[in-house]
Amino acid sequence: MIPDTFRRTTVDREGAPGAEWIDRLPGLVQELLERWGCAPDGPVTHGGVGLILPVRQPDGRAAVLKVSYPHPGNVHEPDAFAVWAGEGAVRLYERDDERFALLLERAHTSTLAELADGDQVVAVAGQLGRRLAVPAPPGLPHLPRLSDQADAWETQLRTDAAELAHPLPAPVVDAALATVRELGRRQPDLLVHGDLHGRNILRADREPWLAVDPKGYVGDPAYDGGTLLKSRALALIGAPDLRRAVHRAVDVFAEAAELERERVRRWAQLHAVQAAFWGRQHGFRVARGGEQLTAIVRFADHLAELLCH
Ligand SMILES: Nc1ncnc2c1ncn2[C@@H]1O[C@H](COP(=O)(O)OP(=O)(O)O)[C@@H](O)[C@H]1O
Ligand SMILES: [Mg+2]
Repeated sequence: MIPDTFRRTTVDREGAPGAEWIDRLPGLVQELLERWGCAPDGPVTHGGVGLILPVRQPDGRAAVLKVSYPHPGNVHEPDAFAVWAGEGAVRLYERDDERFALLLERAHTSTLAELADGDQVVAVAGQLGRRLAVPAPPGLPHLPRLSDQADAWETQLRTDAAELAHPLPAPVVDAALATVRELGRRQPDLLVHGDLHGRNILRADREPWLAVDPKGYVGDPAYDGGTLLKSRALALIGAPDLRRAVHRAVDVFAEAAELERERVRRWAQLHAVQAAFWGRQHGFRVARGGEQLTAIVRFADHLAELLCH
């Protein structure tokens, strides 16, 4: 019942506690199915951290059971779904916070990332980002604020810039530091998806597209412009005029999301610098080492520079 790749990536990432959780997972799923009166209704899939089982509810509605690895990053997913109440995101039917389990409205399996038209990918994500940027309810003061991460971002940028071998000119790193200072420390009280990219936006019937897998941050919705642009970066490799292509993506996102393009550009620049440093230390999911990683890291450097103005 547990896909091999899901078992392997969980154990690789989490070690012994991951293996122990995987062993408990079938029992956990069974218990939740019984409690919520659901029956399995299709093959199990998974993302990076969550197991997804299509199910039928007692009244016949199609849903999915999502059980995530118990990790602080997954704590606020149900809170975000609850605030959106189905507006732009899948509906939340049931939650068991102790078990990191959700019963969600089922969308289709195809994702926005599969569209060939890059402008459309960015525009749909931008429109969705705008709808998801609702005021953070005062009753949920515990939602994580992006502004609370600003100190850590600054420290990390300074440490990485000093300690890593990298070719980024000082003004490029300074631009990222200025973004942390000027946009990062004080941010609006709006809900931010936090991981807005094509694979977390699913085809649906109730609306053409619905978001899944939110982090549930509070902050500047332009932050997710950076998240999205980062996810589009590989699609831009080989663009005949990279400067033009990347600035076009910023324009399209900003217009669709009804945000100032400068804010989107600056967050995207910060994300690019962070990715350039992160990749050098940890690699990426698509390349953990070798020439491919070197090429991607160099590309992140290039984007960080192109996004400075
Ligand atoms: N509500 C849903 N309806 C249909 N498929 C879903 C739903 N939620 C997730 N999935 C499928 O499972 C995959 C992983 O889900 P996601 O919530 O992104 O998990 P992760 O947190 O592990 O990334 C999605 O890309 C999608 O294929
Ligand atoms: Mg996901």
